[in-house]
Amino acid sequence: MLLGDSIHKVFVTGGAGFIGSHIVDMLLPQGYEVTVYDNLSNGKIEYISHHFNKPRFHFIQADVLDLPKLIDNLRGHDLVWHLAANTDIIGGYTQPERDLRDCTMAAFNIVEAMRLTGIRPILFSSTGAVYGDLCKDLSVSESAGPLLPVSTYGAGKIGSEAFLSAYSYVYGLQAWIFRFGNVIGARMTHGVIYDFINKMRQNPRELLIRGDGQQEKNYFLVEECIEGMAFAFRNIPMTDEHPCDVFNLGTTSISKVTTIAEIIREEMNFPEANILIEGTKKAWPGDQPRVHFTVDKINKLQWKTCYSSDEAVRIAVRRMLGKTDGMV
Ligand SMILES: NC(=O)c1ccc[n+]([C@@H]2O[C@H](COP(=O)([O-])OP(=O)(O)OC[C@H]3O[C@@H](n4cnc5c(N)ncnc54)[C@H](O)[C@@H]3O)[C@@H](O)[C@H]2O)c1
Repeated sequence: MLLGDSIHKVFVTGGAGFIGSHIVDMLLPQGYEVTVYDNLSNGKIEYISHHFNKPRFHFIQADVLDLPKLIDNLRGHDLVWHLAANTDIIGGYTQPERDLRDCTMAAFNIVEAMRLTGIRPILFSSTGAVYGDLCKDLSVSESAGPLLPVSTYGAGKIGSEAFLSAYSYVYGLQAWIFRFGNVIGARMTHGVIYDFINKMRQNPRELLIRGDGQQEKNYFLVEECIEGMAFAFRNIPMTDEHPCDVFNLGTTSISKVTTIAEIIREEMNFPEANILIEGTKKAWPGDQPRVHFTVDKINKLQWKTCYSSDEAVRIAVRRMLGKTDGMV
């Protein structure tokens, strides 16, 4: 069982999004009752509509920022899996308040609603973006600091982590915070793989890489991300003395952006396409071209991804192109 036997009803914020909808797909066949709470600002109804006729599935189209509605709908659940956030990282440049609102304020409302309804455990999707420039050359662990974000998205997530931690110590919540690498698979609506595939569909003759072409990050499959979070929840208990912990989650390897472009060119069968590099230092304000972090903490607890970063990229590309179904 993904979350063990003590959990029956799971509240998934952002459950109509890329990662959230995969969580729902994994929970329902295992007998869990699942509520998706999503305002559909970036989620898609077709990612969850195949569950609409199931009695253990509930969908609430609403905003996490609507605290009274959130409290009403949260009552009676055993666990919160909080994924709702602004995920348009580039868009943060023109609308920085979105990261304050949909990341930090949203997280505040979630922990406040948990306090008022007496729900204690929460799994939270944070990001390597919290490390800012610390992870550009060195591979950083969870204890790296000071955390000085270089994007408003990173700032929004640090704010979220801070409220989860404070509410855990002050009000008895139990928080598992996960700083993801790049999560990939079918149903992506953003990110480099999604962008490159769309660019190549528009112009099969060339693919322009923004930035300096030296970008490298770790990429891992969505189901491995979900299993990693569930593994930590099942095996690493939070206690009154230590009610909140943070885990980097991803692979031990990285993929270079040029390798991703080559894999996409190959899988789309456009061997003649020219891969061009724009040559600017950063692709956009707030970009983190290189993200290096260690996953030693979770690896030592006996959880590892099965696929390397490059293998995961190829599998995700195939899924996005409809070459493979489901999780293979
Ligand atoms: N995909 C990645 O590589 C990655 C990496 C690091 C962290 N994360 C985090 O994982 C989570 C899920 O990411 P994803 O890639 O599935 O993104 P996504 O955009 O597909 O999912 C986010 C969902 O949240 C919903 N949402 C946003 N604001 C909301 C609000 N105020 N109220 C209710 N619903 C709201 C959106 O409609 C969407 O369905 C996010 O918190 C993201 O920051 C993702």
